[in-house]
Amino acid sequence: MCGIIGYIGPKNSVPFLIEGLKKLEYRGYDSAGLAVIEKGKVRRVRAVGKVAELERAAGQINPKGSCGLGHTRWATHGKPSEENSHPHTDCSGEIVVVHNGIIENFLKLKEHLQKLGHTFRSETDTETIAHLIEENLKHISAKTEEERFLSAVSRANAKLHGAFAYAVMWSKTPKQIIAVKHQSPLVVGLGKEANFLASDVPAFLKYTNRVLFLEDKQTVVLRSDGIELFDEKNHSIKPKITKISWDQKTAEKGGYAHFMLKEIYDQPQALEDTLRTVRNDFFRILKSKSEDLRKIKNIHLVACGTAYHAALIGKYYLENFAGVMVSVDLASEFKYRTVAPSKNTLCIAISQSGETADTLGALKKAKELGFKRWGICNVVGASLTRLCDHVFYTHCGPEISVASTKAFTSQLISLYALAILLGQACGHIHQSQFKKYYKELMTLPKALAETLKVENEIKSLSRKAYLANRFIFLGRNVNFPIALEGALKLKEISYASAEGFAAGEIKHGPISIIDKGTPVIVLMPADSLFDKMLSACQECRARGAFVVAITTPEGKEAAASVTDKQIIIPQMSAFLQPMLNIIPLQFFAYWVAKRLGRDIDQPRNLAKSVTVE
Ligand code: M6R
Repeated sequence: MCGIIGYIGPKNSVPFLIEGLKKLEYRGYDSAGLAVIEKGKVRRVRAVGKVAELERAAGQINPKGSCGLGHTRWATHGKPSEENSHPHTDCSGEIVVVHNGIIENFLKLKEHLQKLGHTFRSETDTETIAHLIEENLKHISAKTEEERFLSAVSRANAKLHGAFAYAVMWSKTPKQIIAVKHQSPLVVGLGKEANFLASDVPAFLKYTNRVLFLEDKQTVVLRSDGIELFDEKNHSIKPKITKISWDQKTAEKGGYAHFMLKEIYDQPQALEDTLRTVRNDFFRILKSKSEDLRKIKNIHLVACGTAYHAALIGKYYLENFAGVMVSVDLASEFKYRTVAPSKNTLCIAISQSGETADTLGALKKAKELGFKRWGICNVVGASLTRLCDHVFYTHCGPEISVASTKAFTSQLISLYALAILLGQACGHIHQSQFKKYYKELMTLPKALAETLKVENEIKSLSRKAYLANRFIFLGRNVNFPIALEGALKLKEISYASAEGFAAGEIKHGPISIIDKGTPVIVLMPADSLFDKMLSACQECRARGAFVVAITTPEGKEAAASVTDKQIIIPQMSAFLQPMLNIIPLQFFAYWVAKRLGRDIDQPRNLAKSVTVE
């Protein structure tokens, strides 16, 4: 996820670009850049770090131009560096591109363009677009340079695969910006004397609330006095203008009251993005390693907080699909315990930020012990990636809220994918089984989107429960870590006391803390352990608990006989069900905290990444 901004109008574009980029920083913040057309030439400034760094750099060289593009980056291809920052240019430096998303076939295109003599200066997929347009221009003649440029862009679009949105300028056509949308967001703002382009409305909302949300495969040409919209076949179409009624603050969060809620709702798209990476990168990396993979005898999973809960579920996946012995450690514990030396051992560290000090410490220890090291991480170029032999990126976009939501489900997908790929490589599962598991995995975003519909029910449930001083979450097998995660989510943002237990364990002690009215939330999809969960519900209810079942359609009736409330979500196979079961718990934490008036995105005493021990 990155942020794009464009301005074309009578004034110097630079202040508008910087202002817009600051509003888009939530989409990515590892580097930023801008370019303007000044006296027929492209002037470009780029800087590593936040937009403030770019502002400082731009202040020094003072570019001026009434047509400009800006970008704030969240690295996907190539580490965060000035060379990899957008905007990118073609060989001549006359064509300049900013881009959000992934060009899946960029390696093939790059190779082809290099053979034709194009020189690339970055590791990004984006630069391919600039060279492709440059190449097309060589073979197109038209009445005007504007027409020529537009058809060069349209020919490029026909060759690009993936999910992307990009904007491009050419120094020879300084009175227009062309932008294209395909599966990544792009919106046009129509001002009185200037027009804007951005990944999201807040970037220009101060200047106009008249917007055009581009549809997939549409191309728009922006001029200072108007816009022209084209469909995939280059037919001119009538733009459908919408008036936005959000205020600036709401708009930054995509209309949601908090980033946490936005990120819960981001999950179907985030999972699509992770799955795209699974298809492209995981297969490639693991294919090149299949010899080594077959030798792996033990796996240590290390992580903290929410990522640790993902690791706990990862153990079930890896032992089931790959048949390898797996141990799971809190990274802060792994670092200081005696870990038996062993051969052919792999340590997998899981971290959203890739900067968690405890997780980095665990990886250093794994290195000392001679273990191979892989990472599952969301931030390209983070410190963790330098300590690993291989990194599998979740690519779920920046997570702003302290409470981790979409990173968790993306980590689960990554672990599931690794487990079935490893299982196949080691011969633990047959090709036909692999295909079946893989196919079902690809259906997850849709089921998750369906699950999000429970929000209203959870909202009213939270009205009944939010004043309780203790909450209990129960699950078994892969849903036991979901119970732990539900409790963590609730305590970190509501400050209430919440605990997760393995349902079979409550009779060994925890049941004594249940009394009249204690909310007990039970994860009980209709699976092989359903009957055991029914017994756990009865045990809690007998002590006066207010029991809520999170179950699937088949379990509804039986659950209704032993619980006070049933929340019904879609059914998937047992190992994919946790990715859906967590959704009601994320909503529950959110709504309890909201009713208690907590600072949801920045709860007290916590930080997004814990970079100290
Ligand atoms: O960036 P990481 O995934 O390494 O962070 C690990 C934990 O600090 C993190 O998951 C924390 O527990 C979250 N705030 C939970 O929502």
